Amino acid sequence: MNTPPHRLVIAVSGASGSRYARLLLEHAIPFVPEIGLVVSRVAPQVIAQELDLPEGDLLAGLALPEGHRVTRHAIDDYRAPFASGSNVYDAMVVVPCSQGLIGRMAHGISDCLISRAADVFLKERRPLILVPREMPMSTLHLRNQLTLAEAGALILPACPNFYHRPQTVEEVMLTVVDRILSHLNLRRPGSRRWSEEAR
Ligand SMILES: Cc1cc2nc3c(=O)[nH]c(=O)nc-3n(C[C@H](O)[C@H](O)[C@H](O)COP(=O)(O)O)c2cc1C
Repeated sequence: MNTPPHRLVIAVSGASGSRYARLLLEHAIPFVPEIGLVVSRVAPQVIAQELDLPEGDLLAGLALPEGHRVTRHAIDDYRAPFASGSNVYDAMVVVPCSQGLIGRMAHGISDCLISRAADVFLKERRPLILVPREMPMSTLHLRNQLTLAEAGALILPACPNFYHRPQTVEEVMLTVVDRILSHLNLRRPGSRRWSEEAR
């Protein structure tokens, strides 16, 4: 894929870092006309713990441009379009991505809409970006991630960089979100890349 996605799946698991998902939605929505959003069974607990959002709604307060579609899909809704390879979505991001989900995806266990959609993206050879947040990692975590990388997924851990001296938690987190956007061929206005001035 070397053009921005027209149709994107954003999946949110029960790992810490739900704020990454919120930031990704905020910065992808203006550029991606159609987004399918799916939240795991555990994720609402984490969202409630980490973010002050009414009813843990990751979309609360975000402006949707006219004509834009963000569709929420229930975790067990296998009728979602991206649950089948016959319906083409351009890319999928799992952010944050729990190690439990990594394990299930690495073994093709399609026990929910997220793991099924990931299985579809892998079999169809479509871009699948996984943003794990765990430390330290066990041998199992590392093996599972290698399996997924070998199957075609991009493992993009939630590891911020500091070379532009971010001053706030949000600026730190945006260094991760900018890398996700970059792999989706998107660019956040104001983002900085190494050896570049701010845009
Ligand atoms: C507050 C909270 C924080 C968690 N943080 C992480 C984490 O950073 N990484 C991780 O792999 N699992 C984390 N977990 C555990 C996962 O939620 C758990 O393994 C769950 O089964 C994942 O299921 P899911 O991937 O379907 O959401 C956390 C759980 C809670 C309640």
